[in-house]
Amino acid sequence: MKVLPSLSPSDYADWDKRHAPVSARSPEFPATAPMVDQPLGDIAAGRQALQQYLCTTCHVIPGIVGANSHIGPSLSGIADRQYIAGVLPNTPANMVQWIQKPSAIAPLSAMPDLGVTEKDARDMAAFFYTLGKKE
Ligand code: HEC
Repeated sequence: MKVLPSLSPSDYADWDKRHAPVSARSPEFPATAPMVDQPLGDIAAGRQALQQYLCTTCHVIPGIVGANSHIGPSLSGIADRQYIAGVLPNTPANMVQWIQKPSAIAPLSAMPDLGVTEKDARDMAAFFYTLGKKE
């Protein structure tokens, strides 16, 4: 009869750590860690902030009055896009970063840094994730 190798709980925990996905074991890469269950922001406040910061002057944004300019890409269906601005994986954390400082991510982009506060960026991101394929 074969004896199965035995692992103590701490061996197992070590093994598990070594085999966890990069994002789970590298706190230095929060930008790629999924924020799935973290509260993001306030959807209604995000809607307002998009007008206050004049994001509406460059983007078509479904459900927002006056947001019908095509200088930047339409944000219709942004929740389902794989990448933000074609360069950043579309995670809530990355979305907040992009909104606050696009120049740090895509220096040649026409999207300006608008001095968006972290709270406002989180609110906007919360609203964006309501914009799925069939809004
Ligand atoms: C002067 C015009 C302009 C303004 C104002 C502007 N953007 Fe943009 N935005 C752009 C352009 C141009 C891009 C495309 C950037 C790229 O691909 O490099 C972009 C890209 C984006 C993207 C990524 C879209 C995608 O399809 O990946 C998001 C999200 C976004 N903007 C949100 C905002 C928010 C939120 C604000 C307000 C705080 C804002 N933008 C203000 C021009 C603008």
